[in-house]
Amino acid sequence: MSFYIAGTGSVLPEKVVSNDDLAQFLDTSDEWIFTRTGIRRRHVLTGERLDDLAVAAAEQALSDAGVKGEEVDLILCATMRGDFYTPSLACTVGGAIGSHAPAFDVNAACVGVLYCMEIADSFIAAGKAETVLIVSAEAMSKLVDWTDRASCVLFGDGAGAMVVRKGEGRLSGVLRSDPSFAIHMPNLEGINSPYNQVPQEKLAMVMDGGEVYKFAVNAMGHRIEEACAAAGIAPADVDWYLPHQANVRIIDASLKKYRIPKERVLLNISECGNMSATSVMVLLDQYAKKGTFRRGDKLLFVAFGGGLTSGAVVSVWNRD
Ligand code: ACO
Repeated sequence: MSFYIAGTGSVLPEKVVSNDDLAQFLDTSDEWIFTRTGIRRRHVLTGERLDDLAVAAAEQALSDAGVKGEEVDLILCATMRGDFYTPSLACTVGGAIGSHAPAFDVNAACVGVLYCMEIADSFIAAGKAETVLIVSAEAMSKLVDWTDRASCVLFGDGAGAMVVRKGEGRLSGVLRSDPSFAIHMPNLEGINSPYNQVPQEKLAMVMDGGEVYKFAVNAMGHRIEEACAAAGIAPADVDWYLPHQANVRIIDASLKKYRIPKERVLLNISECGNMSATSVMVLLDQYAKKGTFRRGDKLLFVAFGGGLTSGAVVSVWNRD
């Protein structure tokens, strides 16, 4: 007995920034960004707070699942950085929905939601929870260097949520880390210790795009094979692929050898860019709301991210 996905939600900031908008202040173009990544535009936080988006997404997911805040046994939030280091974003969401359940944030970069799904599975398997709220929220626009055209054009902001409940659904999950600084973001903001002797690094994200690209294609392919093997299915048996939305070329390259029909590979990258942990969550909610999934369909989530982390989860859609 593991979990099934009982409800989903997602919220994007109002402000939409197109590639042409970026070309107003960066030496770039819609043509370069779209052909290299598949991204046309992304949503960016302006006046909104990330925790407001996270709470709104969580409320949608709870309502979709027909679950009240006080029925939640555990709250997990996948994020690289919430509005505050403490309280965690998970605690803030818990306060807003009237929950006193244990709550904590998980930083596994873009793979955060998959890590949370596996933590939820472990709590449920151990009899410590029956209903888990998983939230993801990322303010990438506040983490990137807006003068670095090779990285800032890739990202967007957003929040999503899912409620998972004890029952039949999850078939397998694999997680991995391959520690590397190929993407890194120093966390020294505001340090004024008179004892500190560590030189302060640039604060924004630094990324070796080529290195990450190679890692991503390899890691996504391996995680797909491992998760399918653990679920006792072949990659061709998966009804819907929900890959991390970092770059459409990475998605195509990592799935190429399985000859998966394009319509079974779900995308929102052209409209949202890379929202880190939130990408697969928003993708799930958008396609769930469109009525794409049928009861019994096999969904495969696969992601890679800073760390470097990677993972895949196979779950059967258990709703009408
Ligand atoms: N506009 C125009 N030109 C650009 C831009 C831009 N926005 N960015 C880079 N260039 C230039 C480069 O300077 C380079 O010029 P040069 O040849 O004169 O030096 C040229 O374009 C080619 O650059 P490449 O890096 O070779 O371009 P590539 O085809 O490899 O694409 C990209 C770059 C899109 C970053 C790709 O490597 C990629 O997607 N990597 C993975 C990144 C990723 O997924 N990161 C997210 C990880 S998860 C996380 O961070 C949470």
